[in-house]
Amino acid sequence: SAFLRRLWRGDASPRMLHPRLQKAMRAYLSANKHGVRFRGRRAAGRSRAELLCALRGRVRVRTLDGTEPPFSALGWRALVPAVPLGQLHPRGLRSCAVVTSAGAILNSSLGEEIDSHDAVLRFNSAPTRGYEKDVGNKTTVRIINSQILTNPSHHFIDNSLYKDVILVAWDPAPYSANLNLWYQKPDYNLFTPYVQYRRRNPEQPFYILHPKFIWQLWDIIQENTEEKIQPNPPSSGFIGILLMMTLCREVHVYEYIPSVRQTELCHYHELYRDAACTLGAYHPLLYEKLLVQRLNTGARGDLRRKGKVVLPGLRAARC
Ligand code: C5P
Repeated sequence: SAFLRRLWRGDASPRMLHPRLQKAMRAYLSANKHGVRFRGRRAAGRSRAELLCALRGRVRVRTLDGTEPPFSALGWRALVPAVPLGQLHPRGLRSCAVVTSAGAILNSSLGEEIDSHDAVLRFNSAPTRGYEKDVGNKTTVRIINSQILTNPSHHFIDNSLYKDVILVAWDPAPYSANLNLWYQKPDYNLFTPYVQYRRRNPEQPFYILHPKFIWQLWDIIQENTEEKIQPNPPSSGFIGILLMMTLCREVHVYEYIPSVRQTELCHYHELYRDAACTLGAYHPLLYEKLLVQRLNTGARGDLRRKGKVVLPGLRAARC
């Protein structure tokens, strides 16, 4: 489609989206449910090298470490993993894959290529069993939102999907990142199941992202976008991409920017159809994708045919 070609080139605009999506975006802008107040300065028009250096200078992965209230008084220092997320692979990983859950990955035959990476990141409840040919079967890290921990349908506590992997959970907190407010009123109460899971599986690396990290990523998207973006946290996809850019020398992202297989099918493992899954309504997803497109160092043909973007790791960036 014309829209897709413009997204591949990096000049797509939300004004090209279905009026229903545009209306939803406007509603989120005026609701400003998380109390966002952007205080940064716009820096649109950065080159790829400038963008990369801005990211390297700013992006600091942070997880709850139990040193701040209210968690300090709740004994979370002893509850969280002793080894920080950034030090699980002290020398860094070489090549990593980020596999989004988009329906467009069906019939891609990317499974073998995905599994050839040193580490593979997947999202939420996305399965591999039955889809190996298209998505592979290796999982190193799984990013899960707070609904996965709290919605009984996911059987979080005993589902094997969440075992033998590094787990990274997150929940939308207020933009102020006031941990007391967040603890009292999370979007979904992930704290109770987190404590329960940590006690049962103390050896498994399992972290909760610090709200400051989530909103720092939001600030970076807004800073590099001329328009006002939705005042809601970035998608798990964007969070995962930036996490892997800090851990890996090279990151291959699959079906984030859609290939020619683009479809309204939300997830490859469900029948639900909604264009908002790919283009965004709640999350500033289209703006995230435009930013990632600007960082792409991969081949144009790989973007169209595989839906693949190749990003350099932040450690290697020469600034
Ligand atoms: O829907 P879910 O958040 O589990 O999907 C994981 C991530 O994959 C999303 O946060 C989004 O970044 C990406 N995604 C996408 N297009 C889709 C479905 C998911 O870009 N159709």
